[in-house]
Amino acid sequence: TAIHRSDYQPPAWWIDTVELTFDLDPAKTRVLNKMRLRRNPEVAAQALRLDGEELNLSRVLVNGAGTSFKMDGSQLVLENLPEGPEPFDLEIFTTCAPDKNTQLMGLYVSQGTFFTQCEAEGFRRITYFLDRPDVMASYTVTLRADKASYPVLLSNGNLVEQGDLDAGRHFAKWHDPHKKPCYLFALVAGKLVARQQRILSRSGTEHLLEVYVRPGDLGKTEHAMNSLMASVAWDEARFGLPLDLERFMIVATSDFNMGAMENKGLNIFNTKYVLASEATATDTDFANIEAVVGHEYFHNWTGNRITCRDWFQLSLKEGLTVFRDQEFSMDMAGNPSARAVKRIEDVRVLRSAQFPEDAGPMAHPVRPDSYIEINNFYTVTIYEKGAEVVRMMHHLVGRDGFAQGMKLYFARHDGQAVTCDDFAQAIADANPGSALALQLEPFKRWYNQAGTPRVQASGLYDAETHRYTLTLRQSCPATPGQPHKEPFVIPVELGLLNHEGQALALQLEGEQTANGNSRTLVLDGAEQQWTFINVAQAPVPSLLRGFSAPVVLEVDYSDAELLTLLAHDSDAFNRWEAGQRLLLRRALQAITAPDDSQDASILDESLLQALGQVLRDPQLDAAFKELVLTLPSETYIAEQLEVVNPQRIHAVREAMRLQLALALHTDWQATYEAHQASGAYRPDAASAGRRALAGLALTMLCLGAQHGGDSIWPGKTLQRFKDAGNMTDRFNALAALVGCGHALAAPALERFHSWFKDDPLVLDKWFALQAGASDRAGHVLPLVKQLMAHPDFTIKNPNRARSLIFSYCNANPGAFHRADAAGYVFWSERVLELDAINPQVAARLARALDRWKKLAEPWRSSAREAIARVAARPDLSNDVREVITRALADE
Ligand code: ARG
Ligand code: ZN
Repeated sequence: TAIHRSDYQPPAWWIDTVELTFDLDPAKTRVLNKMRLRRNPEVAAQALRLDGEELNLSRVLVNGAGTSFKMDGSQLVLENLPEGPEPFDLEIFTTCAPDKNTQLMGLYVSQGTFFTQCEAEGFRRITYFLDRPDVMASYTVTLRADKASYPVLLSNGNLVEQGDLDAGRHFAKWHDPHKKPCYLFALVAGKLVARQQRILSRSGTEHLLEVYVRPGDLGKTEHAMNSLMASVAWDEARFGLPLDLERFMIVATSDFNMGAMENKGLNIFNTKYVLASEATATDTDFANIEAVVGHEYFHNWTGNRITCRDWFQLSLKEGLTVFRDQEFSMDMAGNPSARAVKRIEDVRVLRSAQFPEDAGPMAHPVRPDSYIEINNFYTVTIYEKGAEVVRMMHHLVGRDGFAQGMKLYFARHDGQAVTCDDFAQAIADANPGSALALQLEPFKRWYNQAGTPRVQASGLYDAETHRYTLTLRQSCPATPGQPHKEPFVIPVELGLLNHEGQALALQLEGEQTANGNSRTLVLDGAEQQWTFINVAQAPVPSLLRGFSAPVVLEVDYSDAELLTLLAHDSDAFNRWEAGQRLLLRRALQAITAPDDSQDASILDESLLQALGQVLRDPQLDAAFKELVLTLPSETYIAEQLEVVNPQRIHAVREAMRLQLALALHTDWQATYEAHQASGAYRPDAASAGRRALAGLALTMLCLGAQHGGDSIWPGKTLQRFKDAGNMTDRFNALAALVGCGHALAAPALERFHSWFKDDPLVLDKWFALQAGASDRAGHVLPLVKQLMAHPDFTIKNPNRARSLIFSYCNANPGAFHRADAAGYVFWSERVLELDAINPQVAARLARALDRWKKLAEPWRSSAREAIARVAARPDLSNDVREVITRALADE
């Protein structure tokens, strides 16, 4: 049944303190939960209803004496509690079975170590509780376990006591000085070792930072620790937010549903976002670790100190914290060009994952109105679009104004559980007179309305009066439950270029003087016009610079105008964007052409020339070149079409890649020669960019070799694969061989496996590379099936399941959308198989067919059939049921 935002009621009871005692045993863990409760005087008196799930209840005591209780579904209901406002003690004794917990929510065992995951509603799988984020309590936790098997016992806060017990057992007692909602509770118990680091904060307080891993992995924790130290320093420098704990711990586990979790003082991470060495992790891994360590650390203020009133407000903490981790990564990357590269990467994620979500059956506002299973709403909309909403606020009030707004937010709400309105209000109130403050109510439509707005721009130049009039119109397609949309408040940053590519000064009608070369217009109605004066010649507009709003921008550019922007725009984002628009335009022309006879020449001479120039330009950074020369993804191309033939998209994109490979052969060769040298490995943005560009060049050279180009490249690539001094170069070489389908790929894959057979994270790459390979005559699905039977494959480990199954179903459209429907059959079987083990992971896989209604026949019918087969199962989890029901809605 659905939960609605409008039904929110404050809790009828408060829990002030919790004392938890765990006797940890994988088969049967005993949990004693002593709470101090009181009635919330502001709410009418009512029974206490505690959430619980898969618990065995053995005792309930009120103020030390037995009491009556009943069960209502999974809730424990207590009706005869002491009257009046006085606090009283409630003691609940339960047991649970961590080793049977395959959902990885609540308390579970991974490789002999106990871990917890409580967000969003996992705490109720540990003990009966008011499992909602607006109930904040003070926790004291005692862990008892066998000392030899579980030498390390961790929970939130500070270690206050530890010692030995009889029968080889020991205990540790932790107290968290900060009140918190139960979703931030955590415990860890097992054989772990830690990298430790003492740091001094600006104010001179000492803190202990620790990164806990399995004994063999200590050598792979340096980068995570460096990232953590950088995060602590950054939050203090940029936002004045210091570390508020004596001790801050990160623990890595290889069984984890998501990326990581910000439990107070005891972050639990997927190993994927902790462990790195140059020999085993790629530049992307290094960058992701920095971003995720930052993200979880920044939650300490935006999430933990100020948390969410209810789960509809999830983006309050997630959108804001993603914005903060994006800014952190940009500040770490340093120069403006590297910042732009990070921005482009973030926008690529938004467009290829969030835009489709916003246009599909799971579309929901950044602040949803209802949900069935909250786990299904940890989405790119809540996270990435939520971050864009915060970024627009940042844009509208400026960097300093935003910092002031954050100050006010903490001054008002520290220690509280609040709403997205409270956040927006604080930013606006700290900036009276700003465009945000003046338009706060309409601006907040970004929180309430789903769907990606479209902005149409058209310009009119009057050569006589030297006036240029820009018209912007907006609209937003209907989304489920929201047929009609009000206008959004859309910041559009822009500049004007002349045809030589020089920036023109911007002077709006009514202004005395020109006012810079780049500025922001705020579109807040359905249609608005702006007139620029003293424009000496017909300009080329550079609109939505830096992607200043999460919208689809439609402009009737001529090819020549786009080439001008690609060659000259001072805004690196729009320079890249111009290239993408040209490539997309060519792709769409070819896809909608009557036949494939012209596929060998989809790219015209002028575009190829321009791209070659980018490759040769000594002023441009390697990372930026790599982005410009990478074609729009198949998913992004599909989003531009009303009716999708996935095979045609794949064929056209492959033809374009081949044309790029062959036509720019000399440039690729020169590029590779210039960037191949690795030297000592450093994961910084500049060196990573060089490796990325060398990798793309190698891919292109191998592809060319397979189609009549210089045949030495596969051999050279194999040599690089063997000699590489780091995982990035090694993996890129392997991927180039696999990508072009050369016979050398098979032995290289085999060698890679034997080198890394004991490193699970590298094996994940090995599976993912094969499952994500460009499809040749349907070869990928049989390979994926074969790999399912590989001794290293297990569907129970989420990382491994994602590396093989998701890489195929969710990330390889050309291979997945088979005309014979075998891909969809495989998908439906895996959804069901996973659902029995881990509904959360299954529901993610279930979303692979979100956009089935756009498919052309025969894909559309066979996709519907596959979805219907899943829907027909009576025993689906809520998670999968919600996704599938939405996919089939209005059918
Ligand atoms: N709060 C975590 C993060 O974004 C995500 C945890 C989500 N977990 C879940 N089971 N839904 O940092
Ligand atoms: Zn988060």
